[in-house]
Amino acid sequence: MPAEPFTPNGQTRLYGVLGHPVQTSLSPAMQNAGFRALGLNALYVAFPVLPERLAAAVAGLSAAGVAGFNLTVPHKLAILPLLDVITPEAEAIGAVNTVRCEPAPGGIRLIGTNTDGAGFLRSLDMDLRFDPRGKQVLLLGAGGAARGIAHALLGAGTGKLWIANRTRTRARGLADALKTRFPQAEIEGIGLKETGGLGPHLLVNATTVGMGDGSSPVRLANIGVREAVVDIVYHPAETPLLREAESLGVACTNGIGMLLYQGCAAFEFWTFQRAPEGPMRQALLAALRERR
Ligand code: ATR
Repeated sequence: MPAEPFTPNGQTRLYGVLGHPVQTSLSPAMQNAGFRALGLNALYVAFPVLPERLAAAVAGLSAAGVAGFNLTVPHKLAILPLLDVITPEAEAIGAVNTVRCEPAPGGIRLIGTNTDGAGFLRSLDMDLRFDPRGKQVLLLGAGGAARGIAHALLGAGTGKLWIANRTRTRARGLADALKTRFPQAEIEGIGLKETGGLGPHLLVNATTVGMGDGSSPVRLANIGVREAVVDIVYHPAETPLLREAESLGVACTNGIGMLLYQGCAAFEFWTFQRAPEGPMRQALLAALRERR
């Protein structure tokens, strides 16, 4: 179906994503499809912003009346001191991926949140019908993505969380930080090589392994996953880890769902309207196909 024509005018609300690099971002296609589906007079573009220009870019965008923006690599942490309000969720994770610019007495108020965790949980629910409450989860990775997912899982009532990372000290550090915030859960930081026989209900890959080099962070057959596997990698759509899950008959999904639902949550944070998931998903998948 050809895209509906849209002509911006003097009242168009502008949104965007700040990143570096950002040319291959899938968010403009996804968010604009959402705006068009609801007939909103809004437009979403990509802003290439160098790390050292973030503060200048944010000041300029908010002064120019931009309504909101996403942050991607490398700005998710650096944005924090530039904000007026940070939601408790984003504060806890220590990273912001979505900002709303609100008119306030004397200027503009920048409100930051993090929709990655909500996006991950919605994908678990919609794509796998998996409820983490009381479950045992093995999370691979201890970087920014893993931290957001760990918070989301523990916030949703995960009973036991193993964080396994190539660099074990980093896994231990993240586990220790989480223990103070989620004292009711059992949390353990281990090395990637110590995952044999753990038998979790769910395994989540939040490392960058599998992005195109044909490798896998672990052998699933050694771990004994009981219910489901998520690989947050979405390009390629099927990683060796997901292929192994399929061959073992374990339910699995890639990172497309998380990407879609974090975008839907950002859309809702900006517009206060229910995100049109169908059109946003179609646009996301079409943009991914074009990227290949
Ligand atoms: P992100 O913000 O996307 O999580 P990151 O903070 O750079 O990115 O984290 C990357 C994660 O992938 C880390 O857990 C990293 O492990 P280390 O902490 O040991 O570096 C993991 N990772 C990257 N390359 C890896 C590899 N070849 N084998 C195993 N883990 C790897």
